[in-house]
Amino acid sequence: MMTKINSRSPQVLLSVRDLIMPYFVVEGNRKKEPVKNMPGIARLSIDLLVKEIAKAKGLGIREVILFGICPSRKKNATGDHAYSAESVVARAVTAIKQKVKGISVITDICLCAYTDHGHCGILKKNPGTIDSRPTLEALSEMALTHARAGADWVAPSAMAHQQVRAIRRKLDRHSYPETRILGYSAKFASNFYGPFRDAAASAPKFGDRSAYQLNYADPRRALREIAEDIREGAAMVMVKPALSYLDILKDAKTRFDFPLAAYNVSGEYALVKYGARDGLWNERKMVFEILVSIKRAGADRIITYHATDVAKWLGVNARSRGRTLDFGRDQPGKQPRDLGLIDHGLRS
Ligand code: PBG
Repeated sequence: MMTKINSRSPQVLLSVRDLIMPYFVVEGNRKKEPVKNMPGIARLSIDLLVKEIAKAKGLGIREVILFGICPSRKKNATGDHAYSAESVVARAVTAIKQKVKGISVITDICLCAYTDHGHCGILKKNPGTIDSRPTLEALSEMALTHARAGADWVAPSAMAHQQVRAIRRKLDRHSYPETRILGYSAKFASNFYGPFRDAAASAPKFGDRSAYQLNYADPRRALREIAEDIREGAAMVMVKPALSYLDILKDAKTRFDFPLAAYNVSGEYALVKYGARDGLWNERKMVFEILVSIKRAGADRIITYHATDVAKWLGVNARSRGRTLDFGRDQPGKQPRDLGLIDHGLRS
């Protein structure tokens, strides 16, 4: 045999820059309320949130997504507080933009945390389904409020028909063409959201979300929704949850070749955490395997509650980026110099 073949095939590299850290924001001061069933995750008031995000930035995290917790006294049937400039999310965005430079802020756009019934849109009286027109208006007002506060991206997750188009129009009309839209395009009616609904106090009071979230047995519909969001003006599209939907991610990447995010959701996080706690596996190795799988399937960005932990494990120094480090050969006790790009340790 004359030809030499390089036996090392190209590998998927996981970088801290692929990761988006989610945060839950509450009203008040010096509040840190642990989220039941999401060990390591807490609802934070704005003062503590800003500090946490500054730390995350120091670890190399560049993008965050915010979820607001609405006090029950401010909830109503139409979720009006969602688009108040006084909402905790709007104020948090302004504070982060003032105090932490170089962080890209994404906000979740959905009414479920703001309606007293806990559904993602405004309901028709009869037969209790989503009333499209007022819902689109409320969602686009919410997006505009966040854009005014300084959000770089808005991420509609209500699964209201044509929500991306309505928000894009509203933002353009009010001179926010630079505020981009991350569509939660293929968001499935999933059992994996349980811990989140507790965190955000956003569980539906009656019924479920199967009227507007996607059926996991219908992959073609998911691809149609993604195509629609791209047409309507999304700058990035998302598949959610991630781990049970790697086929959808792969199909979306192959079919559309468009910026693609995946949401490694609360239930997926809880599985890893509880399994590690009970000695079923090593948390760090499990997290790497999962995140690499999601990236391998085609995700350009991964929203994950593990983001800051991963950044710590990688020991990323925000000031020195860009080289590849072989994570697998990382010496215990020795601080790696630069972990901007990581060979995730399949050989570890
Ligand atoms: C709001 C929203 C949900 C999640 C993100 N945005 C919950 C839901 O649809 O019920 C879930 C995220 C997670 O589980 O981590 N609609």
